[in-house]
Amino acid sequence: MINLQELTKDYGTVVAVNKLNLSVSAGEIYGFIGPNGAGKTTTIRMMGGILAPTSGKIIIGGLDMAQKPAEAKKLIGFIPDRPFLYEKLTGMEFLQFSADLYNVKRDTFLEKAQKLLQQFDLLDWADELVEAYSHGMKQRLIIASALLHDPQILIIDEPMVGLDPSAVRLVKDILKELAAHQTTVFISTHTLSIAEDLCHRIGLIHKGTLSAQGTLDELKHIANLGEAGLEEVFLTIIKENTFI
Ligand SMILES: Nc1ncnc2c1ncn2[C@@H]1O[C@H](COP(=O)(O)OP(=O)(O)O)[C@@H](O)[C@H]1O
Ligand SMILES: [Mg+2]
Repeated sequence: MINLQELTKDYGTVVAVNKLNLSVSAGEIYGFIGPNGAGKTTTIRMMGGILAPTSGKIIIGGLDMAQKPAEAKKLIGFIPDRPFLYEKLTGMEFLQFSADLYNVKRDTFLEKAQKLLQQFDLLDWADELVEAYSHGMKQRLIIASALLHDPQILIIDEPMVGLDPSAVRLVKDILKELAAHQTTVFISTHTLSIAEDLCHRIGLIHKGTLSAQGTLDELKHIANLGEAGLEEVFLTIIKENTFI
């Protein structure tokens, strides 16, 4: 569903993303982890069709983002790292606004919005102004809004920042359920424990380059570690950076 080929982005002399090659299949949760400045957000913005690559290709559901951007973007639910919310709208109004952007039909909207509000534990807050929401509630509303058009692919940049443990659990459970129903999830995160128990496969990006990728077990093997957590694997691979 996602296929990146030699994807590269330069900002002047800074190579933010360097010849990235990776694929994610339907129903897979792919965790994209790496230190600050590694190139995660730049990659995600290119995948969402927001930022043009310097070179390389992005294929989304078989469509080339450079050639069929409108069709490719329809397949994606996109959650940026710093989402924009209209504080003076109610939660329901914000969902309606998002649904209009995604061309969701009016007659299916209400049912879908109710279902999502319930799933994300926001039903009681549907008619309250967004400005009254806590950070976690805003985050959940943003994720709900990206699911209104039933995207086949969900791309999320750092969704768990500032969420309390129960909200993290809620979001994780929803992502797992989406993947079980064949939605492809690409998620960047700093929080290694989340990647560890959510993602089927993990890619480690460091200085714009994919240093290693695989299941947690495969990464442990690559890093030559036995019973280690992802944190140790991550630190070992980033330090040595001699893989792939
Ligand atoms: N608009 C920009 N102009 C110049 N350099 C940028 C810009 N955006 C990101 N960078 C640089 O590209 C690199 C990757 O950044 P980013 O993709 O935001 O990393 P991450 O999301 O992994 O923290 C960093 O060195 C960053 O300073
Ligand atoms: Mg980032």
